[in-house]
Amino acid sequence: MYKEIIIENLEEMKIFAEEIGKSIFPGFLVCLEGDLGAGKTTFTKYFGASIGITDNINSPTFTILKIYEGKNVLYHMDVYRLMGIGMDYELEEYIYGDGICVIEWYKNIIESIPREKLVIEMEIIDINRRLLKIEGIGKYEEIVKKISN
Ligand SMILES: Nc1ncnc2c1ncn2[C@@H]1O[C@H](COP(=O)(O)OP(=O)(O)OP(=O)(O)O)[C@@H](O)[C@H]1O
Ligand SMILES: [Mg+2]
Repeated sequence: MYKEIIIENLEEMKIFAEEIGKSIFPGFLVCLEGDLGAGKTTFTKYFGASIGITDNINSPTFTILKIYEGKNVLYHMDVYRLMGIGMDYELEEYIYGDGICVIEWYKNIIESIPREKLVIEMEIIDINRRLLKIEGIGKYEEIVKKISN
């Protein structure tokens, strides 16, 4: 299932992230792609907050993986620096684990990414607006169907 939506501002991004947050299940996987500054980390902050992460989520660029424990466990990865490595066995432990996982620049480790996932590609339209290309595969199909636009 594939859908494109336009997000007009931060508030709409928050509402969108919260909507996704309502659909989580163990092992939930969100894969993010998009330009620098498109909103991948911003989405993750809102999504994390909505699933009960109270710590401040910030950009993990220099750590690759940050683990947040709250009502749920969140693995936040930014694999920008792993450009083109294809596979990362250490990260796979988390990606295939029971925690909730969000990966920025997931295509860099595409060979480690399961088939079933929620993919969100973000494009900058202008300072506040974003085009989101959302694809849900397998168990994630229904979630995309329900997204309102
Ligand atoms: N509608 C919107 N949705 C998301 N971010 C927005 C929106 N409008 C403005 N912004 C701003 O755009 C910036 C997005 O930065 P963010 O760090 O989330 O991008 P990113 O995709 O994670 O970038 P990077 O590739 O560097 O990790 C923030 O400063 C945010 O406030
Ligand atoms: Mg980021």
